[in-house]
Amino acid sequence: MSNYAIKISDVSMVFDLHKENISSLKEMIIKRLKGQLQTEKFYALQNISLTIEKGEVAGILGFNGAGKSTLLKTIAGVLVPSTGKIETQGKIAPLIELGAGFDMELTARENIFLNGAILGYSRRFIQNKFDEIIDFAEIHDFLDVPLKNYSSGMIARIGFSIATVVKPDILIVDEILSVGDYKFQMKCEERIRTMIGDDTTVIMVSHSIEQIRTMCTKAFLLQQGRLIAQGEAAEICDIYMNSN
Ligand SMILES: Nc1ncnc2c1ncn2[C@@H]1O[C@H](COP(=O)(O)OP(=O)(O)OP(=O)(O)O)[C@@H](O)[C@H]1O
Ligand SMILES: [Mg+2]
Repeated sequence: MSNYAIKISDVSMVFDLHKENISSLKEMIIKRLKGQLQTEKFYALQNISLTIEKGEVAGILGFNGAGKSTLLKTIAGVLVPSTGKIETQGKIAPLIELGAGFDMELTARENIFLNGAILGYSRRFIQNKFDEIIDFAEIHDFLDVPLKNYSSGMIARIGFSIATVVKPDILIVDEILSVGDYKFQMKCEERIRTMIGDDTTVIMVSHSIEQIRTMCTKAFLLQQGRLIAQGEAAEICDIYMNSN
């Protein structure tokens, strides 16, 4: 049976903490003198296995640092897991890091083409969809302003608008909705609901338990890189709220 959209099998993500931190020879020598140079393995994800069926809306819950973004990045292919296997079926639209795929020196107009190209759309396709993209993002007055002068919410609007102009098979959303204002959040939610009705599989991280409770069919709870509970969204939200 291959009715899954996302299948994660025994995935671990290990970071080498000390190696990452050393920025100079001097620092390395000091660390060595202090005996801090041993490599310390840090498991951001540890032996995660889970399956998300096609058309499901899955929420990922967990405290700061639990591994939620790391998990979404491995699904999106931004990070390669240290061990384990990730299988996905269909076209993925990742809304993960604000500004990833954007060049802050370029204008919004230029960035729409740039980001579209990164997502694999042709220039002609973006041209045809251009008005639709800026209408949804509501950025008509700022099209030729460099992105560095945009607010984070405005950048999120463009990102969401581009990523969802085509119906993806899998939509990955990390927090990004929370930087938009209330009105835009509602608009995004509505668009996500339409996609869900159209059978798009969604995996989302949100610190809004209400959002997970009302939008998701299923939820997963991460704690320090481990998957500690999964099930019906409402039930997992309750477990999360009572955990510490
Ligand atoms: N590139 C990296 N190098 C080293 N450690 C990392 C790296 N990326 C993430 N981590 C660590 O992995 C852990 C999980 O991070 P992650 O960003 O997945 O957490 P999160 O659940 O998304 O948290 P938040 O709710 O704050 O967004 C954290 O302790 C983080 O410091
Ligand atoms: Mg995160």
